[in-house]
Amino acid sequence: MTSLSALPGPPALSLDLGGRTALVTGAAGGIGRACALRLAAAGAEVRAVDRDVAGLDELAERARDLAGTVEPHVLDLTDLDAAELAAAGTDVLVNNAGLQLVRPIEEFPPDVFHTVLTVMLEAPFRLIRGALPHMYGQGWGRIVNVSSVHGLRASAFKSAYVSAKHGLEGLSKTTALEGAPHGVTSNCVNPAYVRTPLVERQIADQARAHGIPEERVPAEVLLKDSAVKRLIEPEEVAEAVVYLCSPQASFVTGTSLVLDGGWTAH
Ligand SMILES: NC(=O)c1ccc[n+]([C@@H]2O[C@H](COP(=O)([O-])OP(=O)(O)OC[C@H]3O[C@@H](n4cnc5c(N)ncnc54)[C@H](O)[C@@H]3O)[C@@H](O)[C@H]2O)c1
Repeated sequence: MTSLSALPGPPALSLDLGGRTALVTGAAGGIGRACALRLAAAGAEVRAVDRDVAGLDELAERARDLAGTVEPHVLDLTDLDAAELAAAGTDVLVNNAGLQLVRPIEEFPPDVFHTVLTVMLEAPFRLIRGALPHMYGQGWGRIVNVSSVHGLRASAFKSAYVSAKHGLEGLSKTTALEGAPHGVTSNCVNPAYVRTPLVERQIADQARAHGIPEERVPAEVLLKDSAVKRLIEPEEVAEAVVYLCSPQASFVTGTSLVLDGGWTAH
């Protein structure tokens, strides 16, 4: 089987977000947790949004000794009005929450399609809508949308996810155009497969949809199109998110920072 072991992490970017507030959705696990911890390590006051209460408690515990703070905010993002309200007053918004279902279109439950689009596209729109007035008022804001290679490329059996991520790319670019005169940047980060629960949970579905045993899924599905044959770590994605919040990235807007091990080079 192809090795999924990670390389040692690179040194972190030096960034001071003291005095800034940041909202991260899907902060209870995976990439969102890494982003929340990284932003708090840079000094930010992080509003950690998720529906997973136990995961948020664990995150708050882990964040205790960091320069900034992490404040858990329990919320199901299908409550769109509450999502928009939660984003008011934040300086940095990381739209990260997501879910996945791997099924052929003819077997894909319409209600799941609707939920995926609600959480991964409509909620980001409402969160951005809630965050922009404060950002515009102070002439500074950073919006980072955790997209995916699947915002740029399709894979079979992921109709809802690919649709949501392609939509998020469009939302991010539109936000960049409207936000530029107000000092607000909006970008996507686009990882290939990351070592998170979302990926672990889809191995069985991928095996079934592709008609292969589970142990062949990493090499033959997950890493098939990546030139670098390993999963990326959540902390590496968080580092890209922090870069997009840095002064060095103030001219970077409306773009997609692709972390795909060469997948889209094909
Ligand atoms: N893991 C990957 O390989 C990968 C690759 C590219 C992009 N991404 C994207 O990264 C983001 C995070 O994914 P992850 O891999 O860390 O997944 P994850 O499953 O580890 O974490 C997702 C988090 O979102 C939360 N969430 C889901 N639905 C929610 C809802 N209705 N309300 C509130 N919270 C909700 C979950 O509770 C969970 O904590 C997603 O947008 C995903 O599409 C992941």
